[in-house]
Amino acid sequence: MSLTNFPGSAGSSPLDSSLTKVTIPALAEMKRQGKPISALTAYDYATSRLVDEAGIDLILVGDSLAMVVMGQENTLAVTIDEMLHHTRAVRRAVKRALVVADMPFGSYHGTVTEGVANAVRFVKEAGAEAVKVEGPRVPLVHALSNAEIPVIGHLGLTPQSVHRMGGYRVQARTLDAVQQIKADAKALEEVGAGVLVLEGIPREVATEITADLRIPTIGIGAGPDCDGQILVFHDMVNLSFAPQAKFARRYADAAALFRAAIEHYREDVEHRAFPSDEESYHLPSAVKRVLSEEAEAQPKQRLHKV
Ligand code: KIV
Repeated sequence: MSLTNFPGSAGSSPLDSSLTKVTIPALAEMKRQGKPISALTAYDYATSRLVDEAGIDLILVGDSLAMVVMGQENTLAVTIDEMLHHTRAVRRAVKRALVVADMPFGSYHGTVTEGVANAVRFVKEAGAEAVKVEGPRVPLVHALSNAEIPVIGHLGLTPQSVHRMGGYRVQARTLDAVQQIKADAKALEEVGAGVLVLEGIPREVATEITADLRIPTIGIGAGPDCDGQILVFHDMVNLSFAPQAKFARRYADAAALFRAAIEHYREDVEHRAFPSDEESYHLPSAVKRVLSEEAEAQPKQRLHKV
């Protein structure tokens, strides 16, 4: 593609077609037009294809994969290399949605320089179109933005702070905490965050932040007034093997569907009902004929020898 024929160069809207790639400016435009933004997590090729083909606007390769894919107790142990591995698989599957990689715990908690270098890996090595960082990391978000890396902030219940919070608890419930989160949200917007995830905060607080900001907010456990909503894929389809959070509406029971299919398969194998003859490969008839002629001849030869 040349620099003079890129799509949308004729001043067209970033929302022109349902197959137009979703970008950070497109999400900002959706907020301006009052169009809700749909977002889901995904971690592998197959589910990312389904999520993308269903028209979800933003796919987050969340560090929640530590829990729902890798079976860890919290999100803290997942590494940069593991997150890169999953981001690559998602990237290969997605044509339309914005692909966002979650920066894992420890990858941006040292110097800003280290944080930027790690974010560059997600863009260069895995094809992420934006990265997400938890907490009011204003200097880092500023530096990422200066480095041309679109960045998504994440405030409220930030799972990487589980030990500081003393568990997964709803945040911003006191007057001081409400003032603080509003100031943090504004500060992240001012230094260049393109989107803000609000997790586990009272609806009223999310409503105010959403009205205060020009950038879109995406809520999870933050009420219906955010500019968009995100859920963890495995929670939405009952594959997370965890108690259901109040906000995590279950849209399907994949566990029941998969369990029934797996049990049916096991029974079929045990009863020799799988595979059938139709599910088997067969020799070409000429080869089959020769083989059966040989088989017929063999016992006779043996008889002759005796
Ligand atoms: O890791 C994740 O899945 C997230 C979402 C819950 C926003 O950060």
